[in-house]
Formats: sequence, structure tokens, C-alpha cells
Amino acid sequence: EKGGYEHFMLKEIHEQPKAIQDTYRGRLLRDQAIIKMAGVEDNMKKFLNANRIIIVACGTSWHAGLVAEYIFEDLARIPVEVEYASEFRYRNPVITENDVLIAISQSGETADTLAAIKLAKSKGAFVFGVCNVVGSSIARETHAGAYTHAGPEIGVASTKAFTTQITVLTLMALRLARAKGTISSSDYRHHLLELEMIPSKVEEALKSDAHIKYIADIYKEATNCLYLGRGYNFPVALEGALKLKEISYIHAEGYPAAEMKHGPIALIDENMPVIVIATKKGHYEKVVSNIQEIKSRKGKIIGIVTEGDEQVKALADHVIEVPETLEPLTPLLTTIPLQLLSYHIAVLLDKNVDQPRNLAKSVTVE
Ligand code: F6R
Repeated sequence: EKGGYEHFMLKEIHEQPKAIQDTYRGRLLRDQAIIKMAGVEDNMKKFLNANRIIIVACGTSWHAGLVAEYIFEDLARIPVEVEYASEFRYRNPVITENDVLIAISQSGETADTLAAIKLAKSKGAFVFGVCNVVGSSIARETHAGAYTHAGPEIGVASTKAFTTQITVLTLMALRLARAKGTISSSDYRHHLLELEMIPSKVEEALKSDAHIKYIADIYKEATNCLYLGRGYNFPVALEGALKLKEISYIHAEGYPAAEMKHGPIALIDENMPVIVIATKKGHYEKVVSNIQEIKSRKGKIIGIVTEGDEQVKALADHVIEVPETLEPLTPLLTTIPLQLLSYHIAVLLDKNVDQPRNLAKSVTVE
């Protein structure tokens, strides 16, 4: 059942090329330059007339929501707010029938997310679900939705659910951008082409597995880790830190790289591994100067870089390469090495990777 892999998590990490393909199959029709999503098409007016989109979710799904915020605002020019479902439901939020709420949930059973949906519906908002589990409570409670089609995710630490959520949300953002005219026809086609190439690029990124295991062995005794990223890759830094915490029980924090100097820099010394997402474009030069600041404080630097990178390579203790793609799509690639890094550290520490202590696959209590 683990398909020859030692753990479900590793199997699910390796399933991502296929899972992402399954997510866009029948939706991304590149030859015709069309994105077909019934749930979006049928409710196009609601999306186009929305004052704003509010995204609610928990944990990893919330991180996918943060990536979506960048994509929706950047490509479709629709204002987006992302909120933890647990906070949203208890703070008397301002929400009207002109708002669209997108709820993201792998299991479709998360209690706080479900409650946030019910609250938004009671205020007349249109509610759209992005779920993995077909027929789940959230899928049934929402007005419309789009499934991720990632297949069953057994490992408690979410992997393929995250990348397929981002894929669905990217398709939605592109479809809405096209309808609104906020993206040119050639840019739109370019995005479709690049999205179609993501599965093979994820495959490429997975080839760094042995190198990542080697790095994991060097840092497995760390007691703290810092993850930094900017723009589209800031949420990826948060997700990388969450993965490490969940399965290896090493304390980790994700931060926007530029915020480092407002606090976390005080933590940096020769014992602190800092994982920096520093892909080309995406404020590259600024991230390089953040890396210089870490280096001058003797922090250990693991850079997640674009293939062929030289600047970060010259500064970092280690680099892990991912193929080049369009900036909005980089999270689909930079996430991969971070999943593998936490996986290998947890295995080397002999932790229960698929069922970490104190965690449940779906949190049906608040
Ligand atoms: C992280 C993880 C959790 C879930 C969160 C939301 O690896 O598994 O943080 O992402 O509990 O769950 P869903 O997406 O099922 O609503």
C-alpha cells in the first residue's frame, strides 16, 4: 500500500507530479487556451462582482491560502484577505453578500473551517470550497467548489494536498484574470504552458533527494531552524517550518526574509541553520543581501535556488536547486526540497513520520 516507499509521506511527496497533473487534467486546455472549471464558470458574476475574496483555512491549507493571496491579487487584481478559520469565526467579521469566501481544506472536515463557512453563509456571502476529500462535510456545505483530486493523503503531515491546492487556486486566479482582462493573452498562454510543465519540473526537483538527505544528516541535531522567503515564497517558508516542527519536533519558524532584521536576527549564531528560499526573480538581490547578513553572523545557510545559480552558491553552506519557472509558480517547486528535508531529518531522528505525536489527520473538534 505504500507502493514500495518506507512511509506514506515519502510516497505522497513522490506522487506530486501525478497529483498536480490530475488536478489540472480536463481543466487546463492549453491547445484552446482555456481553463475550464464549472464551479467558477457557473458563478463567474459572483467572483467578478466581489468586493473582495476572503480565504479561510487552517494549518497547511492556510499556507496555500497565503500563496493564493499573492496570485489572485497579482494576476486577477481582486483584493484578498486570508484568515485562520478559528480567528475568523470568533471575531464578528464584517462580511456581506458582496464577499466571496473560499474555504480550503484537505479533509473537508476541519471543525473551525466548517464553522467559518456557516458564519459566512449566514451573512449572505457566496462560499466556494477547495477540498480534497470528495463528498466531505465542507464540500457539501459550500455553494460551489473545485476538488484538488490529489487522491487519498494518509501521512498526517500534508504534502501533495498543499501543492494541489495551490494548483487549483492558480487555475482559478488565471481564469478570473482572463475574464477580468487583467492578464494579456500572451501572458495567459505563457502561464498555461508553464503550469503544464510543473509536473516534470517537480520530478526534476525530487532528484535532489540524496543531496537533501546528506544535508539532513548534518543538521539533524539542531534545536532551532529559521526559514526565510519573500513574496510568493514567504508562505512556503512558513510551510517548510511547519513540516519540520510537525514530524521532527525541532522548533522552527518561518519569516518574511526582510523581517529578519526586526527581531529573529538576534537568534542567529553558528548553531542556527537558516533555510533561505532565494529563487531568481522574486526579489533575488534583496534575498542575497539577507543571506549576507546571516553569513556575517555565522549562521549556517541552506539556499533553495534556481538551477545554475551562482551568487547564493558562493555564500551559502549548501544549495538545493529547483528548475526555473514563472514566479507565481515557484511555490510548487520550492516546497518540494523543504518537504524532503523535514522528512529525512525526522527519519534520521527515528520519529514516527506518518503519525507524529499529538497530531490527527483531521481536526474535527475546535
Ligand atoms: C499540516 C497539517 C495540518 C492541516 C490542518 C488543516 O501538515 O496536516 O496543519 O493542514 O489541520 O486540515 P485540512 O486541510 O484537512 O482542513
